[in-house]
Amino acid sequence: MYNKLMKCFESIKEKVDFKPEVGLILGSGLGDYAEEIKVESVVEYTDIEGFPVSTVKGHKGRFVFGYIGTVPVVAMQGRVHYYEGYDMTDVVLPTRLMGMLGIKKLILTNAAGGVNETFKPGDFMIITDHITTGIPSPLIGPNIDELGTRFPDMSEVYSIRIQNIIHSCAKKCNIDIKEGVYVQFTGPNYETPAEVRLARIWGGDAVGMSTACEAMAARHMGLEVCGISCITNMAAGISKEKLNHTEVQETADKVSKSFKELITEIIYNI
Ligand code: HPA
Repeated sequence: MYNKLMKCFESIKEKVDFKPEVGLILGSGLGDYAEEIKVESVVEYTDIEGFPVSTVKGHKGRFVFGYIGTVPVVAMQGRVHYYEGYDMTDVVLPTRLMGMLGIKKLILTNAAGGVNETFKPGDFMIITDHITTGIPSPLIGPNIDELGTRFPDMSEVYSIRIQNIIHSCAKKCNIDIKEGVYVQFTGPNYETPAEVRLARIWGGDAVGMSTACEAMAARHMGLEVCGISCITNMAAGISKEKLNHTEVQETADKVSKSFKELITEIIYNI
């Protein structure tokens, strides 16, 4: 795995000479944020040797390097999902790559289903912690000692320092932000109502198909991590509606303006 990572790293270094400080993974329907970046270079995933490439409609697959204000960032416009059939180690390869490119902080975003009944579609949720019981750990397999330790601590995956910053940024942007625990399942199917009830009993506030695995890989290598979910729909069984991907996209589109403002404010203050 380390060899594969190094190969991708070398392939990307041939194309860009830019040292990002902050990494950004843009979730379903939130990829437009890349338009806010003063672009220095763009690298398509397909141009990186050995890189896992996403197949989901609406997920662009590229790294965008550039500046938000004066902060050098790299954004992943489109991520790799476990449900596409990749090994979990491939799913987190791009995260590790951003770490190797020099980022110190990682902002994870996603579209998620609301499990906490006080949430409503269009809300943003600061991820305070996560539950990955439904997925394999991305750290299974021989440990990559070059990146981190065999048994990494996960007691503060989502930096409390950054969570506090996000709260004040949300206030400044006039956004009534929620917080809660994100439960990652494999997808690609949405959860059953029974699974959603289980997630609630476990202590979950939102469910989704990404993010927690990337957060773990990032913490393994010592990055400071934060996560924001856009609650695009209420999870199965909580509302009477059937779920579909169009609804997820539509809600994400509706909140896109405030999402952009919030993320920019966070990057300025992080
Ligand atoms: N479940 C899982 N993933 C999701 C959902 C959901 O309800 N909404 C958006 N992504």
